[in-house]
Order: sequence, then structure tokens, then C-alpha cells
Amino acid sequence: MTDMTICCDEQNGLFTLHTKFTTYQMKADRLGYLLHLYYGPRMEGSAEYLITYADRGFSGNPYEAGGDRTYSLDALPQEYPFRGEGDYRSTALIAENADGSVSTDLRYAGYHIREGKYSLPGLPAMYGQAEEAETLEIDLEDTASGLQITLLYGVFPELDIITRAVRIKNAGQQPIVLRKAGSACLDCVPGEYDLITFHGRHAMERNWQRIGVEHGSYSVGSRRGTSSHQYSPFVILARHGADEDAGECWGMSFVYSGEFRAEAEKDQYGQTRLLMGIQDEAFAYPLAPGETFTGPEVILSYSAEGLAALSHRFHRAIRENLCREPERETPRPVLINSWEAAYFDFTGETICNIAEEAAQLGVDMVVMDDGWFGNRSSDSSGLGDWVVNEKKLGCTLGELSEKIHECGLEFGLWVEPEMVSEDSDLYREHPDWAYRIPGRKPVRSRFQLVLDLSRREVVDYLFESLCRVLDSAQIEYIKWDMNRSITDVYSANSAQGGGTANPGAVLYRYVLGLYDLLERLRTRYPKLLIEGCSGGGGRFDAGMLYYTPLIWCSDNTDAIERIRIQHGTSFGFPVSSVGSHVSAVPNHQTGRIVPMKTRGVVAMAGNFGYELNPADMTREEKEEVRRQIREFKELRPLIHEGLYYRLTNPFEEREAAAWSFVSEDRREALVSVVTLETHGNPTTAYIRLKGLEKEAVYRDRESGACYPGAALMTAGIPVPAMSGEYQAWQLRLEKVESGS
Ligand code: GLA
Repeated sequence: MTDMTICCDEQNGLFTLHTKFTTYQMKADRLGYLLHLYYGPRMEGSAEYLITYADRGFSGNPYEAGGDRTYSLDALPQEYPFRGEGDYRSTALIAENADGSVSTDLRYAGYHIREGKYSLPGLPAMYGQAEEAETLEIDLEDTASGLQITLLYGVFPELDIITRAVRIKNAGQQPIVLRKAGSACLDCVPGEYDLITFHGRHAMERNWQRIGVEHGSYSVGSRRGTSSHQYSPFVILARHGADEDAGECWGMSFVYSGEFRAEAEKDQYGQTRLLMGIQDEAFAYPLAPGETFTGPEVILSYSAEGLAALSHRFHRAIRENLCREPERETPRPVLINSWEAAYFDFTGETICNIAEEAAQLGVDMVVMDDGWFGNRSSDSSGLGDWVVNEKKLGCTLGELSEKIHECGLEFGLWVEPEMVSEDSDLYREHPDWAYRIPGRKPVRSRFQLVLDLSRREVVDYLFESLCRVLDSAQIEYIKWDMNRSITDVYSANSAQGGGTANPGAVLYRYVLGLYDLLERLRTRYPKLLIEGCSGGGGRFDAGMLYYTPLIWCSDNTDAIERIRIQHGTSFGFPVSSVGSHVSAVPNHQTGRIVPMKTRGVVAMAGNFGYELNPADMTREEKEEVRRQIREFKELRPLIHEGLYYRLTNPFEEREAAAWSFVSEDRREALVSVVTLETHGNPTTAYIRLKGLEKEAVYRDRESGACYPGAALMTAGIPVPAMSGEYQAWQLRLEKVESGS
């Protein structure tokens, strides 16, 4: 690694992590506590001076502080705060000892620096070779209980990314129960901050919310077994006043697909603590002597230049060092999905007809959605029986796939492996494989129950049945769905710590089981592209993106609602990860009618495709679709790899929504605008562009008109008057090279 990415000043106990534009610093102090000093713009030297000491009432002092009443963990910024030594704030760690006491005292015990990025057993994590990343491990220990904690830091200098994770080992003689095992903490010295979070519900995910961090604590999270539609495991702490273009902000993205909690607390001294980790409510993870627990990774980034730059860092990091693209010879396909075209009502012929029509339009793949397996003609039966329903299809899967390939299309298949219907052969044979608490009736959701993926035999069954399907036909793609939140957590398998209702431990192992299944499939089918889905974007998190580099962003395909959903998603996740399709009108979720062009412009801000029956389209619509696909394929590198800019906030601005893609070299840009409201005698809307070169002149590729970059970014560009609701306008700009 070049120019001292990780520096350790042993004499002063100072650890400094440098990226290109940021520095992160901590210190093992004279009592052995690991204090957090700084995470901000790149700097040299020590930030230790930032820490102040004062005699504060009711903030106790560790015994070794002796007569020094100014030393209190209740006030000091820390790297991995724990309950027990007088920090009364929300802590990262709460551990219960064998005698029932809830107390830990973690002191510095050593460090290691390694080339390359660490990986985590059975868990997703960013990857990086020696030339891209470096790892720091800091060991802490509680000598009384034998609890050993290793804090893992991955540093990616070029990406301006730091990752954190935690390994917790019981090296003592007695059992310990982890009641809370957070993955990352960021303690900030006083200042006024806002917390930006993304809340939602099924079919309306990742609504943007920004609130001031006040005294007390505010948390978002999930108790649903998965990361959830309701709150995204990606949060931003921004200084008051920081906006898209300027100001300080810190982001945390949890690389985990199960329950989580993100919490911001402003303490009595006005300091803010940001925590991220596995949901601790009802969490009690037993650690027998010798056992280790691994806390999932958190990706951190800091930007001094506002939210757009912060998003760009997460986008690049996720795209380049988290997602794993399959070994395909061709770029990702533009696909057509059968769900909104046919729902459960199809035969093999229906799918072939869609394929034939779609082939004429330039589509690359047809995906057969729910309903092709077991006894599944509605959502009340069949889940778990991953056997092709040849009677319904009227052919084998191999024959169907062959016909589709003959049309020149690839073939994809929907699956929902984690679920079981009570009306299924699998459930009749193995009722104990579903989560159910003995003596209680389970909660049904969409008539289905959840399989206990913490059990090896369940994962093995799913792997084998999916392999049988995948081996029976040429299948290039699967859409991996998960259509309910988890309840009734009780694992009936005693061999794996089961026969237990301990929800935290079972659900953690559930997520590990899911990851194991996905990893085994990835290894066996390296060319298979997997799209994640959970009733749309109910499990849209960095953990899933390690296995499924794209995720169906929402079951809401209404272009106007999608503008908000995609806006919220864009803060933490790259455009290439967002599954987005053009669907029919009136829209099936909202009844809204939006022009075909606008639907295309919105869906193009993602992984583009269609979700309709092409046979129902008019000739003009088909022509428009052909044009859209040609355009998307041409623009795909700019859209998927360029810098994404939010030009408006659709949660606040009602006239028009706009966003843009700018190539890294700032020579090319695509601006997309959708009008939201129409008025008589309207005022002109101006959209201020971002990310261009101020000194350069840009030419509209269509009209040839030229505009100064500085003016485009300060005064903006007038949106042409367009009659009717929900009109779209796109502007392709290229930099005018001197002499041209
Ligand atoms: C979920 C998905 C949809 C579709 C249905 C099928 O709701 O998000 O896209 O696949 O399941 O049942």
C-alpha cells in the first residue's frame, strides 16, 4: 500500500487511518481505553487535543483513574463503547457474565496491520487486494471475564472508504451472553447534526427524512428478521446546513440483511454518538468458552463536500468492491418480466409469446415470474416444492428455455426459496422446518411460513432442489424473492443450538444460512445473475448486494412514485443496483397514467427492463420501446458508471423532478427531468445542473445549442414548456473541446 495508509505511533498509542481525502484517528490512552479522536478531512498530526477533561457530577471514574475525577467514560468519545465502566449512553456492547452481572471493561491489548482487506467467515464484506486496501485489527480484552474483542478496520484509500466489523471471543472459562453486539460506533465532539434516514412500507420504500439530532436518542431499525421495507440500514449524519453540494456528512451502510438498529444519541454534554449493528432488542447470543461471534461489517465514508460526494463514494465502493458480477460475456440484459403481464395466469405458450414479441423490441431476456412450480396457481399454495409444473406450462422447463433461446433471448426464473406454503408437499413432509413455536399458532403472511434457514438440512434441501431446476434448462438469471417478515422464531434443531426460541441467535444463523445458500449457488453457477427482491425493496441492503448485484427496488412500478423511491435509494446505493421496469398504464399499483416516454426515462435510472405484456402495446408504443432500449444500451456506461446527481428533492419540490449522470471526466452528461404538476400560464422551471466543469462550454447533442458550464450550474437551464401531466425531458450534453 502506498504512503502510509495505516499508521501506528506505538509510543503515543495513536492509530491513524488515511484515505485520499479523509483521516480517521483513535488512541489507546494511558488507562488502556480506546478513544475515538477524529474522522474528517485528511490531516497530519494528532487530534488528541480535541478531548477535554472535566470533573463532572454523576459521571463516574474508572478505579485506575485514582484521584483523577476528570476522567470518565461517560464523557469520552470511544471506538467501541461498552456497558459496565460508567458510560451511561447507548453502548455498542452489552455482555452478561455467568454470574448475571452485566459489566465489561475493555482495555487495549494489541494490534496487527495486514495488507489487503479482511474478510468475514460466512458474512458478506467489501473485498480488496493488497494494492487496494489495508487492514488494521485492534484487540481489546476484559481480563475478568476473558471476553476478547477484535475491532477490524478495512481502509480503501482510493475509495475514501473505511469499513468496520467486530469479532467477539469468549476466551474465559464461563459462558457469556451477548445482549448487544454493535458493529460500529462514531462518537463526535459537540456540534449540531442532522440524521438522514430512509423509511417506508411495502411499495413505497426509502422515503427520505432529515431530522435534527437532539438530546435523547433516536433510532431506526428492523425487528422483522430482514433489513425491511420500513427502514433502510443506511443512515447519514450531516452537519446542520450541509446539503447536496457542501458541508460535512458521514454515512454508515450495514452489510447485513437481517434485523438491525441504527441509533443517534446526543448526550448531556452535547456530543453525538452514532451506532450501527444487529438489532439488540430480544437479542441474546450465547457464547460458550472458546466460541466466537462475528458482528457484520459497516461501510463508513465521510465527505466534506456534501451529500452528492458522499453518495458517489458509496456508489463506487459498492459497485467496485462489494458487488460481484457473474462471469457473463455480455452486459447485463434488458429484461422483460412476466409478473404484471400475466401474474399467475400463464402457460409456457404465454411466456413464449412474450418472448417472441419482446425479441422484436430489442429485449435480451424474459423472466418467468411466480407460478411455474409445484401446485401454485395463486399465492396460497406451492412454496417449497421447487419442481416444475409441466402440466401448467405444457412443456418441460428445458423445452421452454430452448424456445426462448431460439427467439434470441436469455431466460430467467423467479424463486422464493426461504418460504413454505402450508399447502405444499414440503410442509406436509417437514412441518418442523418452518418457524413455529410449539403450542402456538403461527402468524401467516401472504399465506406463507418461513423456513428455518439456521438449519443445515433445510439449506441443503433448498440447494439441491434449486440445482435440479437450474440443471434442467438453460437459465441465465434468477429473481430471488422473499415475501414476508419473520415471526414465530423457534428452531426445532437442537444440534445447532436449536430447540430454542432465542430469536436473536436463531435469526443471525438464519441470515448466515441464507448467505451460505447464495454463496453455494454462486460457486456452482458462476455465470448466473441473481436479482434480489423482497416484495420489491424489502431487503435492499449492502449485504444482499454482495450476492445479488441488483435488487428489484420496489413493487411500485408507478413512474411518479418511483421518482421518490429511487431518489431515496440513491443516497446509499448505486444506480446499477436498482432494478427498475417500465410497466403498463393505468399503473397496477396506483391507477395513474403516465406517458410511455416518461416511464422509460424513470426506469432508465436503474437496471432497465419491462414488466408488461408487449402484445397489449400499440404500434407507437412499441416504436417508443425500441427507441428506449437502443438509447439505454448506448447510455448504459454513463448511467451505471457515471456520477449520479440529485438535482431536485422530490420530497420537497412539487413542480418538477430532475437528476443527472455525469461521466467521471465531466465531458458527457445526461439530464432527466419529469414535470410533476401542470398549471395554466405556468412559470418557467429552471433546473440547476451539477458536476460539470465551470470553465467549459457544453453542447446539447440534439439541438447543437451551447451553454456555459458555470451558468448551467448556477442559473440553471429552463425546462421547455410541455403540455399535460408527467412529461419527460432529457438533455444530452457534451463538452465542447477547444478547437471544435
Ligand atoms: C413479490 C415481488 C413481485 C412478484 C411477486 C410474485 O411481490 O416483489 O415482483 O415477483 O412477489 O409473487
